[in-house]
Amino acid sequence: MAKIDFSGRVAIVTGAGGGLGKTYALELAKRGAKVVVNDFGGARDGTGGGTSMADAVVAEIKAKGGTAIANYDGVHTHEGGANIVKQAIEAFGKVDILINNAGILRDKSFTKMEEDLWDPVIAVHLKGAYNVTKPAFLNMRDNGYGRIVMTASGTGLFGNFGQTNYGAAKLGLVGFMNSLGIEGAKYNIKVNTIAPVAATRLTEDIMPPEIFQKLNPEYVTPVVLFLCSEQCQDSRKIICTGAGLVQRASIVVNDGVFLGKEPATPEAVAEKWAQILEPKNLRELDNVMAQSLEIMKYYS
Ligand code: NAI
Repeated sequence: MAKIDFSGRVAIVTGAGGGLGKTYALELAKRGAKVVVNDFGGARDGTGGGTSMADAVVAEIKAKGGTAIANYDGVHTHEGGANIVKQAIEAFGKVDILINNAGILRDKSFTKMEEDLWDPVIAVHLKGAYNVTKPAFLNMRDNGYGRIVMTASGTGLFGNFGQTNYGAAKLGLVGFMNSLGIEGAKYNIKVNTIAPVAATRLTEDIMPPEIFQKLNPEYVTPVVLFLCSEQCQDSRKIICTGAGLVQRASIVVNDGVFLGKEPATPEAVAEKWAQILEPKNLRELDNVMAQSLEIMKYYS
């Protein structure tokens, strides 16, 4: 198996001042990439800000002989996203790899989920990924090469009490990936998504201590590094990973039930409901046209 090497590659890691992002930045640099270490430097809920987190990671990379620069922009603003990519191109000439990793939490049960909790979470995770990916994608398109990793979460894929804002943003990233991967295919831009599980400041009070101790973020790092590599030829995949386990998650349809060529009644739906839900012959569909073809086969 050839060594995965990032010499000559330029990578942007957002939210790389701590937690998972820091491990990606360190390992990319160790394997030869020039890294833009972005971090807004705020608290877990996104308040505050500062330069020390990104600076510390850059200092660590440089002390180990690697190449990195710090960026302190917030991904949640359009200008911030543009500036991160501009800085990468000015310093290193291009962008090959983008890991959309920056994240905050503002948890509350839905009856207490007000706009000041909803909007910033969507802004950092979903709009933030757009803000950085748009200018990065343009550069990747011009160069005919790109690797983009989105960071979803188990909450987006499977749900969690108190995280409607976060779950909406995180599954939104899967939708973003699904269409962007289609648009990036002809430029050799692969877009994949991870749903990590790791012990970081985001999860320290959510997980039981005995589980927290087993979830070193460094278990997630090799999976993300592979997705960022030239060796990764797949796109539009969702990978759940933590503590050494790497699984693929996917969105599937079952056989379903054809209710007839004339519009049916709600009672007919009720009668067939168990069969409609039956997880039989589950399969992925490549795009929205494939969904239409599923319907059309009953009319051919
Ligand atoms: P973390 O809090 O250590 O890292 C997130 C980083 O993003 C922080 O350093 C923070 O300063 C930075 N950040 C926040 N807002 C920013 C902004 N507007 N612009 C730039 N940087 C900003 O947490 P962790 O766990 O490393 O999270 C990384 C990603 O993984 C997040 O997207 C998170 O939602 C996701 N995730 C983590 C899980 C886990 O088990 N730790 C589970 C599922 C998803």
